[in-house]
Amino acid sequence: MSAVAGSGGPTGHTHGRLSTVQVIAVLSLKGGVGKTTVALGLAGAAMQRGLRTLVVDLDPQANATVALQPGPTSTTIAELLDEPRRLVLRRAITASTWGDDLDVLVGSEGNERHNNPSPTAKQLLRLDRALSRLAQQDDTGDYPVEDDYGLVIIDCPPSLGQLTRSALVAADRAVLVTDPTIFAVAGVQRAFEAVQTERVQHNPRLQPLGVLINRVRSRSAEHAFRIAELRELFGPLVLPGAVPDRSAIQQAQGACVPIQHWDTPGAREVSAVFNTLLGRIIRTAHRPGPDADIADPADPADRAAVSGGRQANG
Ligand SMILES: Nc1ncnc2c1ncn2[C@@H]1O[C@H](COP(=O)(O)OP(=O)(O)OP(=O)(O)O)[C@@H](O)[C@H]1O
Ligand SMILES: [Mg+2]
Repeated sequence: MSAVAGSGGPTGHTHGRLSTVQVIAVLSLKGGVGKTTVALGLAGAAMQRGLRTLVVDLDPQANATVALQPGPTSTTIAELLDEPRRLVLRRAITASTWGDDLDVLVGSEGNERHNNPSPTAKQLLRLDRALSRLAQQDDTGDYPVEDDYGLVIIDCPPSLGQLTRSALVAADRAVLVTDPTIFAVAGVQRAFEAVQTERVQHNPRLQPLGVLINRVRSRSAEHAFRIAELRELFGPLVLPGAVPDRSAIQQAQGACVPIQHWDTPGAREVSAVFNTLLGRIIRTAHRPGPDADIADPADPADRAAVSGGRQANG
C-alpha cells in the first residue's frame, strides 16, 4: 500500500490517505521458524500502544487467525484475492477477541489456490490492490473510521510463491525471520533476494527492516556461532534484539492471548523484544514529506500530529 497520500502507488491506483500506515510483511522461506509468532507479538505490542492494527493472514494454514480468535465471517482472504473489491475486503475483516483496535483479515485453507509457484504480475499485484481499498472513500465520500489502521502486519506462508511475493509487493517493510541454525544463512540470503526482486520489479517502496533471529538459547554454543555468522554476513541488517526460546510463547499461543498478557519472566523478556521491534518500525516509517518520521503513538504530542495529518488528508 502506498504511504504517500493522494499519489499513485506502484500499481497506479490512487490512495486517498492513511499517509502514516505502515504495511509490514513477516516472512521466511523456511517453515516453523516463527513468522506467525512474530506477527502476533508485533500485533500485541501495537495493541498495548493503542495503535490500530490489522493482521492479514495470508497463510493457508491460518494459524494467526486461530490465535487471534476473530468473530465469524462468511468471507476470507481467498475470496478477497478472487475479487479485490472494497465490499469483499470489509466482509473479510473482523475484530480479534484480543482487544479493541486489533482486527484480522481472516485466513483460510482456500487461499492455497492463490499460491501459484509462478505467478503473473497481475496476480502479484492483487493483494496490494485489495489493501488499497482500505483508503477508499465510501458512498458518502467519507473515509470510514474503522479502516483507520496505523499498522498492517502480513503473516506469510513458508514458501516463495505468489502469496509471499504478493505480500512483498504490498509492503513498506519486510521482517525476515530466521532461527540460528546451519540453514539460516542460505535462507536469509534467498529472502533478501526475494525482497530485492520485488522492489525492482513491482514495489520501489519496499525496504528490509532487518533479520530477526528467533528461538535463541543463550547457552547454546551452536546458536552463538550461527548468530555471529549471520552478523558477519549481513552486518547491521541483523536486528539487535533477538527473540529468546521461551515456553511462555507456546503457552500464550495455546491460550489464545497476547504474549504481553502472559505474566511470567519469560513472557516479559519476549514482550520487550517485540516492543523494541515495533519502536523500530515506527521510527523508520516514512511520511509523505521529505524529512518526516512516522509518529510514535505512545507519544501524546505525536498522537495529536497524527490525527491532524489525517484530517488534513481526509
Ligand atoms: N521464541 C520461541 N520460543 C518458544 N517457542 C517458539 C518460539 N517461536 C516460535 N515458537 C513455537 O514454534 C512453533 C512454530 O512457530 P510459528 O508458528 O510462529 O512458526 P511459522 O514460521 O509461522 O511456521 P509456518 O512456517 O508453519 O507458518 C510454534 O509452536 C511456536 O509456539
Ligand atoms: Mg506461520
